[in-house]
Amino acid sequence: MRRPFIAGNWKMNLAARDAVRLAQEIRERIGSVPDRDVAVCPTFVSVSAVAAALEDSPIGVGGQDCSQWDDGAYTGDISASILRSASAKFVILGHSERRHVMGETDEVVRAKMGKAREAGLKPILCVGETLEERKSGNTLAVVERQLRKGLEGLTSEDLAETTVAYEPVWAIGTGEVATPEQAQEVHAAIRGWLKDLGGPVGEDIRIQYGGSVKPDNVGGLAAMPDIDGALVGGAALKADSFSAIVGFGTA
Ligand code: PGA
Repeated sequence: MRRPFIAGNWKMNLAARDAVRLAQEIRERIGSVPDRDVAVCPTFVSVSAVAAALEDSPIGVGGQDCSQWDDGAYTGDISASILRSASAKFVILGHSERRHVMGETDEVVRAKMGKAREAGLKPILCVGETLEERKSGNTLAVVERQLRKGLEGLTSEDLAETTVAYEPVWAIGTGEVATPEQAQEVHAAIRGWLKDLGGPVGEDIRIQYGGSVKPDNVGGLAAMPDIDGALVGGAALKADSFSAIVGFGTA
């Protein structure tokens, strides 16, 4: 049985003080969550403060990216080890905004995956097709390429610490959520590739769905056999909606 994992991606929002306040509110609302994992991913400058606010809580903290290089002369970058030393446990890598806005290639994402694992971070590898790619029938080919490339060369120990997030680009921040069936089709394919790559470990890797997840659609998505939680953007910025998403199926 895979434990559901719900992560909030706060993107480039919230000054440090507001990030800490949101973390405290989420902590109060969520209380204990014995049967699922939860994380929030603030901007780099808030990671330490948010981690301090969530100390001794069941909520982990992650970064939204990390450098593809080790510490050194890379002005403006944040290495995986520096992120880890700021108390981050997770890191989102290959998010579509980084792939499509910042121009990250599969090779860059793969390099970051390696650095994250070397530093002891648990990566959340994002994959997903654009609307154009879906319309032209290339969804599975694109997702398979991003997945295989992103995981290339990782050991089965690394894979065991990895989460995959399927985030169709057309559903991110648009209010247009994939139907549970549309998402499950891709999740099932991802599950097959993960088993192909990792053997039995592939059965245990969690695959989150992301893209306009809200309290009223998370239940239907999470009921699908290969959907193991959610990566939440907009609805993660409010304590009430995020905690309602975290509590899916328990109300
Ligand atoms: P959204 O973002 O929930 O606002 O669609 C999801 C994400 O980008 O991870």
